[in-house]
Amino acid sequence: MSDLELLNLHVSIDGKKILKGLTLTIKQGETHAIMGPNGSGKSTLSNAIMGNPKYSIDSGDILLDGTSILSLTPNQRAEKGLFLAFQYPQEISGVSLAYFLRNAYNASHPQNGKIPVMEFHKKLQEKMKQLKMDPSFADRYLNEGFSGGEKKRSEILQLAMLEPRYAILDETDSGLDIDALKTVSEGINLAAKNKLGILLITHYQRILRFVKPDFVHVMVDGRIVKSGTSSLAEKLEKKGYEWVIEELKEKAAKNRK
Ligand SMILES: Nc1ncnc2c1ncn2[C@@H]1O[C@H](COP(=O)(O)OP(=O)(O)OP(=O)(O)O)[C@@H](O)[C@H]1O
Ligand SMILES: [Mg+2]
Repeated sequence: MSDLELLNLHVSIDGKKILKGLTLTIKQGETHAIMGPNGSGKSTLSNAIMGNPKYSIDSGDILLDGTSILSLTPNQRAEKGLFLAFQYPQEISGVSLAYFLRNAYNASHPQNGKIPVMEFHKKLQEKMKQLKMDPSFADRYLNEGFSGGEKKRSEILQLAMLEPRYAILDETDSGLDIDALKTVSEGINLAAKNKLGILLITHYQRILRFVKPDFVHVMVDGRIVKSGTSSLAEKLEKKGYEWVIEELKEKAAKNRK
């Protein structure tokens, strides 16, 4: 089975419980959007999936194509086709974007051997053109002095170059102007054509106008409390998260009766 399964995940950081029983299955080719208030645990979820060692998985499991990946390092997870775009990408001085991407490509496709440099650059230029990025950008040091929008665009370039099977995009849309939002969305849609499973974490409905999710989930306090389709995102945009929380309280009260 080609899917990424999160099974009753409980995750904590520094002893603080953040995820409290999160269950979700993402099939290859599906786009799932996760929305939720600040601090509900969305970035924690991304970090846990990628195997950031700061996050402790207290119980539950993460299965990739039916096999647990909990014992794998972040690099091994990338080799298996997982990709994470960070909410706050790091700057790496002295490493150009092109060099970084070539290494990331080789690391995530070990079965193909190293990609010839010329072939890599041809592919890079093609993808940069699609993403309307200036070719000279590839020579810049990774994320150093990149504007917010440039960082996001270079993440989507990474996504386009690495061709993973599952991508976790944590607020790839934040800080983008409207043109950049369209370009980044086109990049995501292009990658999605390649049978990519996407977990798109966002605060705003606006990206969902360009990237159509198959499912929208609301996360509150470390759990998915509501799932639906695009119309759920529209409702959230209009009414905020309060109504979901109210609805939960009402349900809980009914159950107590
Ligand atoms: N290193 C840490 N130490 C202590 N608490 C942390 C740490 N990292 C995250 N948290 C806490 O975990 C909770 C969930 O944080 P997380 O970043 O996952 O939220 P989020 O849903 O991504 O929020 P946002 O929408 O603001 O990006 C927050 O209360 C946060 O303060
Ligand atoms: Mg976050």
